[in-house]
Amino acid sequence: MHVRPAAAAAAAFLGLTLSLLCGPASYAAPGPGSAAPGPLGLGGPAVYAHRGASAYAPENTLEAVDLARRLGFDWVENDVQRTKDGELVVVHDDTLARTTDVEQLFPGRAPWRVKDFTAAEIARLDAGSWFGEEYAGARVPTLRQYLDRVRRNQQRLLLEIKKPELYPGIEEQTLRVLDRAGWLDRRHVSGRLVVQSFSADSVRTVHGLRPDLVTAFLGTPKVADLPAYAEFTDRINPWHTTISADWVAAVHRLSGAHGRAMEVDTWIVDDAATARKVRDMGVDGIITNAPDVVREAVGGF
Ligand code: G3P
Ligand code: CA
Repeated sequence: MHVRPAAAAAAAFLGLTLSLLCGPASYAAPGPGSAAPGPLGLGGPAVYAHRGASAYAPENTLEAVDLARRLGFDWVENDVQRTKDGELVVVHDDTLARTTDVEQLFPGRAPWRVKDFTAAEIARLDAGSWFGEEYAGARVPTLRQYLDRVRRNQQRLLLEIKKPELYPGIEEQTLRVLDRAGWLDRRHVSGRLVVQSFSADSVRTVHGLRPDLVTAFLGTPKVADLPAYAEFTDRINPWHTTISADWVAAVHRLSGAHGRAMEVDTWIVDDAATARKVRDMGVDGIITNAPDVVREAVGGF
């Protein structure tokens, strides 16, 4: 979804005003298993800027992270994959065609898979022009570059290991990069980082390697299957169309891998009516491309 410049400018102005008033790190975002209120203690689910503030800036770029910060958002979500020469990069699709100019730069390399390009080749790509000329020159960040920026912005990270079946060992490698970038210290592990995946095996692997880390499984398991997930994860993060208040309550009744009530962060909710609907179902967090819209709808400020 794109919101074109006028709407983006209005949103940025509103967010900047809020940011100046409140500051992105001026409230304690809900932690794992906590019933802590959202921004300014006014209640409401936590709001996660999906792929950054991706309704207003090109997804998974540093520009999208910075815009989320200017809008006043603490939590950003991203997607991690691996290049041909073993660098972790932040990009959603397993090909580079939709979000970069790879077809122009490397016309003979269809289908332009992330795993078939080196980090140096990917660093040459323009990951902003497809979204809008004002973002020409934005890059596909390495995970390290991304972590450094999110940390500098005093933001928190919902990190998704994307398509782990394509990248054997990506869990261990991701943890290594997180560690080197200072993201596995007590402060980060206790409330600034969540690792999620659509692959239960991947989440289980992360939990096995770093049992102190908060993790989430992306999907909507049947209620009868939830206890098996509670063995290795803390959160179940479903697509919003697949849930009900009863299902959310069933998740909440379980204790997760860290002995606290399991939580639910749902995606992708970009409109006010749906945000209020899932809030009323009792979700703990909303993952959204348009975080300002959700915040306004669910009383997050
Ligand atoms: O964080 C939830 C969401 O990112 C899952 O879907 O395809 O956008 O990675 P996708
Ligand atoms: Ca994602």
